Amino acid sequence: MCGIVGYIGSRVATPVLVEGLHRLEYRGYDSAGVAVLRRGRITVTKAAGRVRDLRERLAESAPSPATVGIAHTRWATHGEPSDRNAHPHLDAEGRIAVVHNGIIENAEQLRAKLVADGVELVSETDTEALAHLIAAELATAPSLEDAVRAALRGVEGTYGLVVLDRTRPDELVVARNGSPIVLGVGDGEMFVASDVAALVHHTQRVVFLDDGELATVSAGAYRTSTLDSRRTSKEPTTVDLVADDYELGGHSDFMRKEMYEQPEAIARALRGRLDERFATAHLGGLGLDPMALRAVKRVKFLGCGSAYYAGQMGATLVEELARIPADAEPASEFRYRNPVVDPDALYVAISQSGETLDTLAAVQELRRKGGLVIGAVNVVGSAIARECGSGVFLHAGPEVSVASTKALTNMTVSFAMLALLLGRVRDLSAAAGQRIVTGLRALPERVDEILAGESEVERIAKRFAHARHMFFLGRVRGWPVAREGAQKLKEISYVHAEAYQSAELKHGPLALIDAEMPSVVIVPEDELLAKNIGTIEQIRARGGPVIAVTNADLPDGLADEVIRVPRGEPELDPILLTVPLQLLAYHTATALGRDIDKPRNLAKSVTVE
Ligand code: G6P
Repeated sequence: MCGIVGYIGSRVATPVLVEGLHRLEYRGYDSAGVAVLRRGRITVTKAAGRVRDLRERLAESAPSPATVGIAHTRWATHGEPSDRNAHPHLDAEGRIAVVHNGIIENAEQLRAKLVADGVELVSETDTEALAHLIAAELATAPSLEDAVRAALRGVEGTYGLVVLDRTRPDELVVARNGSPIVLGVGDGEMFVASDVAALVHHTQRVVFLDDGELATVSAGAYRTSTLDSRRTSKEPTTVDLVADDYELGGHSDFMRKEMYEQPEAIARALRGRLDERFATAHLGGLGLDPMALRAVKRVKFLGCGSAYYAGQMGATLVEELARIPADAEPASEFRYRNPVVDPDALYVAISQSGETLDTLAAVQELRRKGGLVIGAVNVVGSAIARECGSGVFLHAGPEVSVASTKALTNMTVSFAMLALLLGRVRDLSAAAGQRIVTGLRALPERVDEILAGESEVERIAKRFAHARHMFFLGRVRGWPVAREGAQKLKEISYVHAEAYQSAELKHGPLALIDAEMPSVVIVPEDELLAKNIGTIEQIRARGGPVIAVTNADLPDGLADEVIRVPRGEPELDPILLTVPLQLLAYHTATALGRDIDKPRNLAKSVTVE
C-alpha cells in the first residue's frame, strides 16, 4: 500500500519518478501524484486512478526539465481517493511539498489546531497537516531537517516521508517511523523510495533508514540522524536484486511468473541449510543453540492472509516432526486480545513483505512482554525482519503479484526445516530426519512435475469457472491446504470460496451441496485416506460435483475430476498439494477475465489497520 519515490540529480526528474511509481504499482493504490521543483517553484500534478492516468495528466502540459522531485501512490485512508486527496501535499504558501506513507494518529487534533490558527486545509488527509506544520517550523528552524524534526515531535503515528522545500533545490529531507524508507545511492544522483523495487534498475547500493531516523539527501551525499538530533552513520549495502526480478520476462503476468519460479525459489531456500550427515537443518539466523531449541515447549505461528495459512501448515509440521504443541493464529487477533505470552514458547512472525502492520504490531507486543519471537520474512531489511532481529529469511525473491505463491511455498519449506531442526534436537530419529531431508531435496523437481500438468488443471478450471460458490475441504494436513486454496480462488477470481474441515461438513454446510456447488477435496495419501474418500462419497451422493486433489490412487469414478500430485514424504504433502490450487485459481480467474496481479480492493502490502 502507498508508494514513495524521490529523485535528486542531473536527470529530468519526472520520468524517473513516474517510472518509479510504476514499479510500485503492485503494492496497491488508488491515486498518484508528482511534485517537481524548478527555479523556486514547485509544480504538482495528481490524478485519481492509475499511474497511467497520471502520465496522461502530465502529458497535458509542457514537460518540466526539473531535476529534483517527489512522487507518491496513495491508498486511501483519510478521505476518498481523489485528485484533491492524492499526494504530494503543499502548505498554504506552496513552499513545502510532502509525500507520506503511514497513518498520523493524532491527525484530527493537528488539523483542528491548524484550522483554529486560521489555516485553510484543502484536503481531508493527515499528510496535509504535516506540510503546514513543517512550513511553520521553518520560520525559526536553521535547516529543513531541523524543521521536519521539530514538526515530527508533535506527531503520533507511523510515517515514511519525503519533504521538498522550494527554497532548497539541492536537498530532500526524509524521515521514517514504522513505514520503510530506503535511499538509493547513484553516481552523482540519489533516489529515495519506500521499496527497493523502485530503485534497483538505477542502483543496487542502498541505505535502509531505521525507525526514528531522518536523512538529508543531496545529489552527491546523504547524512542521517535521529529524531533527537544524534548523528548516525550508515554505510550503503548492496542488494542482490536486479531489475529483471521485477520484469515479466515473457510471462503474461507476475502470478504466472512467480508460480513457475517456485522450483528455483525452493532450491534457494534449502541451499546450505540441509545437513545429510546429522539428518537435520542449519538455520543460523535463528540465533538459537541446541539448548535453547530444547527449551522451547510450544511454537506459535503468527501471520496474516496466506502467511497465516502457511503458519498453520508450519504448526502441523512442528507437531508431527518435533512433537511439541504448535498452532497458528492471525496476527491481528493475537495483537488485540491481550495475549498471554508464554515464556517457554517460540513465536514465529511470518510475512512476505515484512511490512504487514498487524504482524509487526504482534511482534512489538510480544517483545514488550518478553516473548521469544523470530521472523520468517522474505524482504531483507523490512520492518518485521528488523524488529525480530533473528529468524529465517525465505529467499523467495521479489514477489509482485498480490496473490502469494512462491513466498507461501518458501514459508512452508522453511517451517519444514524448522520442524526438522526442532525434531532432531528431540526424539526424531536420524532415519526419520534423513527421510525429510531427502523429501525436501526432491521438492523442486516435484513442483516442476505439477507445473507441467498445467493444461489439465486449466481444463478443469474452465469446466467449473461458472460456479458462483465453491467448497474447499481437507482434514489435518489437508486442512490448511484447503484454506489456502479457497483464499487463492476468492482473491483473484472473486468466486465465493469457503474452506471447511471435511468432518465438519455434515454439521451444517452439507445443506448447501447441490449440482451448483462444486467441492475441491484435498486427499493426501495418508492414514486418513479412507475418511477423505468417505467425504467425497457423501458429497456426490447429494449431487455435488467433486474435484479431488490427491497423490493417492483413488477408485475410478470416485470424483468428477482428479488433479494428480506426485508422491513425496507425507509430512511434506501440504507443500505439493498447494501448488495445483494456485493453478486452479489462476485459470478460473483467467477464464473470468480478472486482473490477475491486481485484484480489486486488495493490496500486496497491508501497512494500515
Ligand atoms: C495481503 C496480501 C496477501 C498476504 C497478506 C500478508 O493481504 O494480499 O497475499 O498473504 O497481505 O502479507 P505478508 O507480506 O505479511 O506476507
